[in-house]
Amino acid sequence: MSKLIIDGGVPLLGEIRVQGAKNSVLPILAATVIAGDKCVLHNCPRLRDVDKTDLVLERLGCTVERHGNTVIVDPDGFCSCEICDDLMRAMRSSIIFLGAIITRCGEARVSMPGGCPIGLRPIDLHLKALKELGVSIHEEHGYIICRAKKLKGTDIHLDFPSVGATENIMLASVCAEGTTTILNAAREPEIADLAAFLNAMGARITGAGSSFVTIRGVKKLSGAEYTIMPDRIVAATYLAAAAATDGEIFLTGADPSSMGAMLHVLREMGARINVSSGTIHLKSRGRLKNIHILRTMPYPGFPTDIQSPFMAMSATAEGTVVYVENIFENRFRHVDELVRMGADIKVEGRSAVVSGVKTLYGTRLVARELRGGAALVVAALGAEGTSEISGVEYIDRGYEEIEKSLADCNACIRRVQ
Ligand code: UD1
Repeated sequence: MSKLIIDGGVPLLGEIRVQGAKNSVLPILAATVIAGDKCVLHNCPRLRDVDKTDLVLERLGCTVERHGNTVIVDPDGFCSCEICDDLMRAMRSSIIFLGAIITRCGEARVSMPGGCPIGLRPIDLHLKALKELGVSIHEEHGYIICRAKKLKGTDIHLDFPSVGATENIMLASVCAEGTTTILNAAREPEIADLAAFLNAMGARITGAGSSFVTIRGVKKLSGAEYTIMPDRIVAATYLAAAAATDGEIFLTGADPSSMGAMLHVLREMGARINVSSGTIHLKSRGRLKNIHILRTMPYPGFPTDIQSPFMAMSATAEGTVVYVENIFENRFRHVDELVRMGADIKVEGRSAVVSGVKTLYGTRLVARELRGGAALVVAALGAEGTSEISGVEYIDRGYEEIEKSLADCNACIRRVQ
């Protein structure tokens, strides 16, 4: 197991090229099983979760090749409709294969999902929607068994705009008979990215990225070449790190148009930000100021995934801010570690009250989930003294060589085994 050693207090100065989006590449890789031919995907980040998704594809019989950040999937050898327990436990987002496998072979058998320990994360909305498309579902010995003689398009109203459920419905309905409409669909940019990839394969999806998505079933999909969108959460994490260290950073290969809520908060807190197509420039203007309240919301609201890295930045900003977590019920696991560094944070149910202190102090820290781990990196970069972060395997699920990107910007950070 590796650890990150960070000597804090050094302003980040430099340029980082933003990696491809984890939350986009995972459903897009799942979608390749429906293709009639090879798919070529560019800008695929090297991440633990992507490696695991590749492994799922291989266990299903597909061939996966990687050349740098390009991944080629050949689904020709597809021969299994099961995702076994070890892979489902390792990565909850494997549930996204459900819709794709059912479309491919009319049957799917997946173990109940696991993933980051940030709450219950049920899949009832996925299963209810699949039933509405004509899938019969039963559970047996911890496995969900799905069968569909014929998938039939219909109107599906989501009780909550779930990202995963919206994606699973698109994957299950893309070759269904007739038209499917999703009402109250999730609007995250990664959904529009998946739809653009499916359309490149020959699908007929309109409205993705809005609350009302229409999917007209087609007979079959072909292979396609596609470039994954930039990761808006990773981009915002590096901006937070620059702002927390009183630094200056250029992000290239970014998509500022997908980051409105996060850029707004950074500006409100006092950072100077300029954007042009694909580039974001942040320059700190001294100590940040906390704004009064920050609520996590579905897109285009403030994303739950950036709540913890931004809280690490708020820990040393002037004044008080209340973070309200509306999406996941257990997403304050980083707070205890920030408090160990000297932060003044009190959690009450789904709210965390952060009163900014002048300095955090480096110490031994444990990452317990992906974004909470990134928050510890942000805090350690701004802290006085040395921090040692374990649990780096969580951070590696979503950040490609985080120590290299940060070291290229002057940070004193290294990985030790
Ligand atoms: C995706 C992202 C994750 C992000 C989240 C919210 C991926 C791989 N992961 O996760 O990084 O934090 O969106 O933006 O894209 N819910 C139910 N029943 C369901 C499904 C969801 O109650 O069947 C609830 C969840 O418990 C949670 C909320 O809906 O409280 C949001 O979940 P959802 O949007 O589905 O998130 P994920 O797709 O799991």
